[in-house]
Amino acid sequence: MRQHRVVLLPGDGIGPEITAVARMLLEAVAARHGFAIQFDEQLIGGAAHVATGAPLPEPSLEACRGADAVLLAAIGSPRFDALPREQRPESGLLALRSGLGLFANLRPVKIVPALSDASSLKKEVIEGVDLLVVRELTGGIYFGQPKGRVTADGEERGFNTMTYSASEVDRIARVAFELAKERRGQLCSVDKANVLDVSQLWRDRVEAMAAAHPEVSVSHLYVDNAAMQLVRNPRQFDVLLTGNLFGDILSDEAAMLTGSIGMLPSASLGSDGPGLFEPVHGSAPDIAGQDKANPMAMVLSAAMMLRIGLKETEAADALETAVDRVLAAGYRTGDLMAEGCTSLGCRAMGEQLLAHCNG
Ligand code: IPM
Ligand code: MG
Repeated sequence: MRQHRVVLLPGDGIGPEITAVARMLLEAVAARHGFAIQFDEQLIGGAAHVATGAPLPEPSLEACRGADAVLLAAIGSPRFDALPREQRPESGLLALRSGLGLFANLRPVKIVPALSDASSLKKEVIEGVDLLVVRELTGGIYFGQPKGRVTADGEERGFNTMTYSASEVDRIARVAFELAKERRGQLCSVDKANVLDVSQLWRDRVEAMAAAHPEVSVSHLYVDNAAMQLVRNPRQFDVLLTGNLFGDILSDEAAMLTGSIGMLPSASLGSDGPGLFEPVHGSAPDIAGQDKANPMAMVLSAAMMLRIGLKETEAADALETAVDRVLAAGYRTGDLMAEGCTSLGCRAMGEQLLAHCNG
């Protein structure tokens, strides 16, 4: 029997609830599709800080390094906002991405027909949207040096550095070109080259790569215009390639096209080693522990893990189909609730997904 080792990182807030649903479904599809998953639950984020003093304890990173794939739920809570930056939950996530070399973050945004009324945008605008945000994840202003806070001339000053090397741009651009080829062959690179030197380098490298990929049609947008185009006419996009900070912002914006950020999965990949699969949404501390969370982005992240990380295509299909069916049958968590639909909590949603998984 095929065996896979998966590290689960439940993290904070709604993380443990949605992890429980994902684990239950993964066990079910594994049994049905003839493989086994050995789960190893590890600490990250605020939960790790409380237990060990560090947001990414060494044993967690080691376990991830030794796994076939890592499935993370969410980290963060206002409870930890006053901690020194290196102890905050977010620092644990950044250290994990960096420690595993996960430079390529893929965030697919596809409209589920059953949810076309759930978006705050008009149905005509979002119908048929099927785009992929390719976000650089281990560089840019998130990791650039120097950074910090200093006091000079009697005033405090804070600063970060947005920096990319040519090779960092090339390796993420290569991923985006390859994915564009498998999709509709359109690549839109997003930068701020009208103002930022780092963005001009980004644009020059993408242009150079475009010349070597005549089968991909390449365009460029400034990030402000891209933000506008995403809500004006999102169907124009196939693959959106961008840096770490712009990708963070644009992927939340793109998530809302689907009606709820509770629907969006992501994959973070390096050049080798295990990938990290996680929902785009955060830990939703306001509803944590109340059985209200939408587990679908987590389940769809588990599906991406099965497809990309573990090469279990049929099991991945089963989970994705279950999500479509449950939505088509009118089941909704609170974030998506609409007239005529049946409202479910997180656990009951998990049970419906299980019931809609087979055949
Ligand atoms: C995301 C999140 C993270 C990020 C935070 C939690 C550090 O917003 O994955 O988009 O900014 O990358
Ligand atoms: Mg974000």
